[in-house]
Amino acid sequence: MKVAFGCDHGGINLKPVLIDYFKKKGIEYKDFGCFDTASTDYNEYALQVSNAVASGEFDKGILFCGTGIGMSIVANKVKGIRCGHCHDVFSAKMTRLHNDANVMALGERVVGPGLMIEIVDAFLTTEFSGDERHARRVEKIKALENVNFK
Ligand code: RB5
Repeated sequence: MKVAFGCDHGGINLKPVLIDYFKKKGIEYKDFGCFDTASTDYNEYALQVSNAVASGEFDKGILFCGTGIGMSIVANKVKGIRCGHCHDVFSAKMTRLHNDANVMALGERVVGPGLMIEIVDAFLTTEFSGDERHARRVEKIKALENVNFK
C-alpha cells in the first residue's frame, strides 16, 4: 500500500507519530508537507495529496490540520476523492466499509497521538464491504462529479 500524507501547521505535531507508525508497519508513504510550523494554507496540501490519490499514484491519503475540517472540504472537491472526516475508530472503519473513502482527514487539536494512530490504522486496514447497496450509493456519489450544479 502507498499512502500520501499532508498537513498544515495545525497538524504538524502529529506527523512524526504517523511516520513512526508507517515505518513500523512497513507502509510506503510520501510526505507532501508542510515541513515547519510557520502558518500556511491547508488547501495546498489537501490538493496535492488528493491529486496524488485521484491519479492512482497512491492508494490512500491522510490529511491533518487543526480540526481536519478545511482539509476534508478541499479534498472532497477533487474528482475521484471521497474524504472521511474521522475522530473515532468506528467512523474510520465505517467510512471504508460503507463509503469506500480513499482519503481521511483529522484534527490535531481534536485527538491525541494515541487515538490518531488507532483511527489511521482502522482506516488503512479496513476494506470496502462491496455490498450492493453501498456500491450503488458510492456510484451515485461518483455520478455527482459530472453534474454541473447551477
Ligand atoms: C489553522 O489555524 C486551522 O484553521 C487549520 O489547521 C484547520 O483547522 C482548518 O480547517
